[in-house]
Amino acid sequence: MLISFEGLDFSGKTTQIKLLVEKLQRHKFSVVLVREPGGTAISEKIREILLDKKYSEMTEIAELLLFSAARTQLVSEVILPAVQSGKIVICDRFVDSTTAYQGYGRGINLDAVNQINKLATHSTMPDITFFIDIPLTVITQRLMDSNSSTDRMEAAGKTFFEKTRNGYINIAKNEPNRFIIIDGNRDIDIIHEEVWNIVRSRLNIP
Ligand SMILES: Nc1ncnc2c1ncn2[C@@H]1O[C@H](COP(=O)(O)OP(=O)(O)OP(=O)(O)O)[C@@H](O)[C@H]1O
Ligand SMILES: [Mg+2]
Repeated sequence: MLISFEGLDFSGKTTQIKLLVEKLQRHKFSVVLVREPGGTAISEKIREILLDKKYSEMTEIAELLLFSAARTQLVSEVILPAVQSGKIVICDRFVDSTTAYQGYGRGINLDAVNQINKLATHSTMPDITFFIDIPLTVITQRLMDSNSSTDRMEAAGKTFFEKTRNGYINIAKNEPNRFIIIDGNRDIDIIHEEVWNIVRSRLNIP
C-alpha cells in the first residue's frame, strides 16, 4: 500500500505522518517512510538545489523537471521495490505536490504536468492521499510561532499559495476516492484519529 500526505508548507504533514507510522508499527506493519524531494542519493542532491535560495534564476520548467527527476529516482529505487515486497510506503509529499505547486500554483500547462507526472511515477498512484488543509492565515501564524527561516519555495508569496491550495481542492474534486481532504485546523490528536480510522478500515484492522 502507498499512502501520501499533501498540503501547503506547515499544514502538519510531518506531524501526522510520525503519528501514523508509530501506530502502524505498533500493529506490526513494516513501514517505509520517504520524504520528497529526496530519499535517494541523486534525489537528495536535487533537493539541495531546489531548496537553495541562491538559485533565484531557476525557471519554472527547470523546477518541474528537477522535482520530477528526484521523484522518478525515488519511485524506481525505493517506492516500487518496497510496495512490491508488501511494505506500507508513506510519502511526505508525492506527485500531487507537482500538480498543485507547479501546475496550479506556477501555472504550467496541466496536460504537460500530468504527462511528466505519469512518466516520472511509471503511473504509480497512491492508494490513499491525505490532503491536510488549513487556511493561509493559520499557516502564517504557525510560521511566525516557529521563527523558522523561509526557504526558496516559501518565499513565493500569498497568491501562489492560494492557487496551490485551490489546485489541491480541484484534485480532490477529480479523485474523491483517493484524495481525502482533512481539516487540519484542529487538534493534532483529533486529526490523527480521523487519519487512522481511514487507514485502519482500508487495511481491515479491527
Ligand atoms: N493540528 C495542529 N495544530 C497546531 N499546530 C500544529 C498542528 N499540526 C502541526 N502543528 C505545528 O505546525 C508546525 C508545522 O507542522 P509540520 O512540520 O508537521 O508541517 P509540514 O506540513 O510537515 O510542513 P513542511 O511542509 O514545512 O514540511 C509545527 O510546529 C507543528 O508542531
Ligand atoms: Mg514536513
